[in-house]
Amino acid sequence: MSLLVNRGTRPLPASARPGPEVLAFHRRLPGYAPTPVHDVPALAEAAGVARVLVKDESSRMGLPAFKILGASWATYRVLCDRLARLGLEGDPLWDTLPDLADMVARQLGPLRLVAATDGNHGRAVARMARLLGLSATILVPDGTAPARIAGIAAEGAEVTVVQGTYDDAVAESAALAGERDLVISDTSWPGYEDPPRRVIEGYATIFAELDEQLPALDAPPPDLVVVPLGVGALGAAAASCLRAGLEPGEGPVLVGVEPDSAACVAAAVEAGHVVEVPGPHRSIMAGLNCGMASMLALPTVAAGFEAFVTIGDDRCRDAVRSLADAGLDVGETGAAALGGLLALRVEHGSEFPVPSGAVVLLLATEGVTDPVNFERIVGRPPR
Ligand SMILES: Cc1ncc(COP(=O)(O)O)c(C=O)c1O
Repeated sequence: MSLLVNRGTRPLPASARPGPEVLAFHRRLPGYAPTPVHDVPALAEAAGVARVLVKDESSRMGLPAFKILGASWATYRVLCDRLARLGLEGDPLWDTLPDLADMVARQLGPLRLVAATDGNHGRAVARMARLLGLSATILVPDGTAPARIAGIAAEGAEVTVVQGTYDDAVAESAALAGERDLVISDTSWPGYEDPPRRVIEGYATIFAELDEQLPALDAPPPDLVVVPLGVGALGAAAASCLRAGLEPGEGPVLVGVEPDSAACVAAAVEAGHVVEVPGPHRSIMAGLNCGMASMLALPTVAAGFEAFVTIGDDRCRDAVRSLADAGLDVGETGAAALGGLLALRVEHGSEFPVPSGAVVLLLATEGVTDPVNFERIVGRPPR
C-alpha cells in the first residue's frame, strides 16, 4: 500500500474538455440512459467524511461497466474515417444504428473489430460489433475469469486467450490490424493514437451527466474525486472534464487508485514516462491489472491528479462488502475507488489529509462481472 503525492500538477486548458457531440452520439444508442448517482451516508460515516456520492456504472446500456462509452465512440469515429475516405461525411449519416450498420455493410463491406481486454472493454467492443453487424476478435490474458470470457463470447465475438499478461494481449491485438481488421484499443502505443483518443473522449459522457445530476441531488461540487486507474484512459477523461480551465486550488482534487501489484500509472507519473511494471498481475481488480500506462493518457493524468494510492485485494474486498451492505452490488474493480478512499483515510492521513467535511465522489465503474468471486467475498450471490 503506497501513496504518491504528485508535485507536477499543472492547469489544463479549457479546450481539453470534449464537446457536446459525444453525449449527443451516446443519446442515439439503444438503451442509453444516464447512470445513477447515489448519496450513501453509511459510506460517508465509514470513511469519516461529510458525504460520499457514488456514480454507479454497474449497468450502462445493458453492460456491467462504463466501457461501452469509449468503445462505442471510438468504433463510430473509426468507421466515420473509413466512410470519409469514400467521400461520405457530414451529418446526418444515420438516424438509427441499424441505418449506420446498413451503410457500413454497403459501403465498406465485411469488417472485423479487434481488441485486447481485461474484460469490460472487450465486451463493449464485441457489443458494438454485434450492433453494427461486424465480426469481432477479443484477446484476453490467461487467468481471465470464466464469467468474463463468457460475457464477451455471448456478444458473438471470438475470444482468444493469450498466454501472458494484459499487455501481451495488447501486443498481440496490435499485430492483427489490417485493411479489414480495425483495432479498437483503449490504450495507445507509438503510431496508434486515434482510437484511444476517441475512447478517452467517449468517457466524457460520465462527467456531462454528473454536471446535471449533482445539482439535482442538492450536492455541492465534490472536493475529492476517486478514480480507478488501469491504463489511465478514464483518468485522462476525468482530468480533462473536471480540471480543464481551472487553476491549482480550484475545483475537485483527483486521486487515482491502482492495485499494489500493477501501479503502472503512478510509476509512469513518477518516472515522467511510461514504464513497465512486470507481471504477472493477479489482483482481483481485474480491470486494473495493467503493466503499462497509455502514453496518450499519461500527460493529462500527470497534470490533473494530485495523488495516486495503491491498495491490496483485502482492502478491495472490504470495499466490495461495504458497498454491498449499502445496497450497491459492485465488482472488484468498481469497488477500488472506495478502497482507495479508505486507504487515504486510514493509512495516509498525515501525508494526504482528507478533511472530515469533504464531499467525495467515487467512480464505481463496474457491476458484478465475476459472480463466483463476489459471492466468495460478500457471502451471498449478487442481486
Ligand atoms: C471497471 C473498470 N474500471 C476502471 C478501469 C480503468 O480504466 P482505464 O484502463 O481507462 O484506466 C477499467 C479498465 O478496464 C475497468 O474495466
